[in-house]
Amino acid sequence: MKTDNALLKVAARPATGPLTHDDLTFILFGASAAQYLNAACELNLFELLEHKPGLAKEEIALRLELQPRAIDILLLGTTSLRLTERVDGAYRNAEVISRMFKEETWAIFKSVVGFEQYICYEGQVDFTESLKANRNVGLRRVRGAGRDLYHRLSENPHMEQVFYEYMRSWSELSNPLLFKHVDFSGVRKVLDVGGGDGVNAIALAQAYPNVEVTVLEIPGTAPLTRRRIAEAGLSERIKVHAGDMFAEPFPPGHDCVLFSHQLVIWTPEENTSLLRRAYEALPPGGRVVIFSSISNDAGDGPLMAALDSVYFAAIPAEGGMIYAWEQYESWVKAAGFKRADRIPCGAWTPHGVLQATK
Ligand SMILES: C[S@@+](CC[C@H](N)C(=O)[O-])C[C@H]1O[C@@H](n2cnc3c(N)ncnc32)[C@H](O)[C@@H]1O
Repeated sequence: MKTDNALLKVAARPATGPLTHDDLTFILFGASAAQYLNAACELNLFELLEHKPGLAKEEIALRLELQPRAIDILLLGTTSLRLTERVDGAYRNAEVISRMFKEETWAIFKSVVGFEQYICYEGQVDFTESLKANRNVGLRRVRGAGRDLYHRLSENPHMEQVFYEYMRSWSELSNPLLFKHVDFSGVRKVLDVGGGDGVNAIALAQAYPNVEVTVLEIPGTAPLTRRRIAEAGLSERIKVHAGDMFAEPFPPGHDCVLFSHQLVIWTPEENTSLLRRAYEALPPGGRVVIFSSISNDAGDGPLMAALDSVYFAAIPAEGGMIYAWEQYESWVKAAGFKRADRIPCGAWTPHGVLQATK
């Protein structure tokens, strides 16, 4: 587990001052900017420049097997966006990208780019319709009959691979923040609700040798979760419970319930009901831990929380967004917990932890 990298430390700076025409350019052509980033990733431009900084345009074209017009376009875009720098005709990566290679977080970042490209882009076209209908109209662009994105992934192998590669990366990038801010040493057994491919359960079991974990996952994903846990050699301490978190009471016998990147998916009513199930399943003194991106109570950011909310509004399930701290607090209280503690993580991503004890 990486515990120290620049992405965890750099707190996003809020945008200040009045909107400029340059700001408008970024907003208007935001989709094009993301396409430049994705193309450069898929063509392995950044890998090339990291290993051979200072190449000229013609050499880059040769190695990427691009025609002159195509390399002109690609480097015009990446350099205007400051992803690459051009000094005396020689190209190199932006410092922030170079640093990701050195800190070995580049593969993580790249899988987030893949997620935006292959999971988010198509369905986000239905954002306006999703707002009007107050539900995820963009799911219609994902093949399959499942009731939400997660129940359609096993029908779409490429999407499933991209999704879980991203989810694992996003959690590997961020869960050091969870372990930095929450002490699990007094915990005996954790229920990881919608635990994905087990990425957090595995990190938790590795960090705390006395902790056992149950991952609650849908039957379509449970085999992948079991495989990943077996590969990590942790099948004795991490069990997978294949089921539906909404359809049955939570499995008993846990003194901590973890919702990681989970309550961003569901409506406020569904979140209150999930937290109530957690309250009912916990013994007195048991804890619920919510780990997610969280937005400001003032409703003005962080920017990443706002931009990420388009995906949650348009695609995965009927209702969701990067909710605000006070919303989580109100649901935790409605579920029966007396009080909740806020722990903002102050990182590049808008992650935070909310913790409450029964
Ligand atoms: C956004 S992912 C989060 C995965 C993991 N917690 C993490 O932080 O990396 C949401 C997960 O919840 C699972 N999920 C969705 N609906 C579920 C349900 N009704 N019951 C159990 N798991 C569910 C999905 O299959 C998916 O793996």
